[in-house]
Amino acid sequence: MKVAPSLLSCDFSKMGEEVIRIDKAGADLIHLDVMDGHFVPNLTIGPAVIKSIRSYTKLPFDVHLMIDDPIDYIDSFAEAGADIITFHIEARSDAAATIDKIKSRGILPGLVVKPNTPVEEIFPYLDQLYMVLIMTVEPGFGGQAFMENMMPKVTAVKEECQKRGLDVLVEVDGGISEKTVSAAAKAGVDICVSGTGVFKAKDTAEAIRVLRESDMV
Ligand code: DX5
Ligand code: ZN
Repeated sequence: MKVAPSLLSCDFSKMGEEVIRIDKAGADLIHLDVMDGHFVPNLTIGPAVIKSIRSYTKLPFDVHLMIDDPIDYIDSFAEAGADIITFHIEARSDAAATIDKIKSRGILPGLVVKPNTPVEEIFPYLDQLYMVLIMTVEPGFGGQAFMENMMPKVTAVKEECQKRGLDVLVEVDGGISEKTVSAAAKAGVDICVSGTGVFKAKDTAEAIRVLRESDMV
């Protein structure tokens, strides 16, 4: 299991140091939550902030766009240093065109579904994707309870990929901690995002280690 700490729960007054801290603590990717106050009822960071912390780590930047019109901002996030860009199937942009735009910038594309969206909605695009993200909370805020009943979506993506001979990673996001990660690990999740689970832990490195090793037990 790879671990992608979400900077949404870090100390925003010292983001650069926080990035260095989770890098040293063993993070595999850095998860960046971009919210526009329209697609979700919260506002967070944009390309300028992402660009400002890019030089603090070599770890991949996993950018999760919770915005209405992702296609209009792909160039900005590419220039900011995104390595993976994941956007919502529920957003307004044409999904195929957005994936093409992400790929044209040499970035790995991901699609994400909210809890009430059937995961089958992303199946037409599966062969174009690097990653599928399954939300395990309603997007918008950190610190919510993990929805274990989303795990059949993970299984469904894995089965569809196997049937079609595709190698697409599955990531889960929301409410992941050492208490909840085993359900995700059992379902075959490849990457877990964790905000409060990592940043509010007493020992960050230990919290990351427990998440990473959850699929070994
Ligand atoms: C929620 C975000 C998540 C959030 C996870 O909309 O997409 O990445 O930061 O935070 P926790 O791990 O606290 O649920
Ligand atoms: Zn996220």
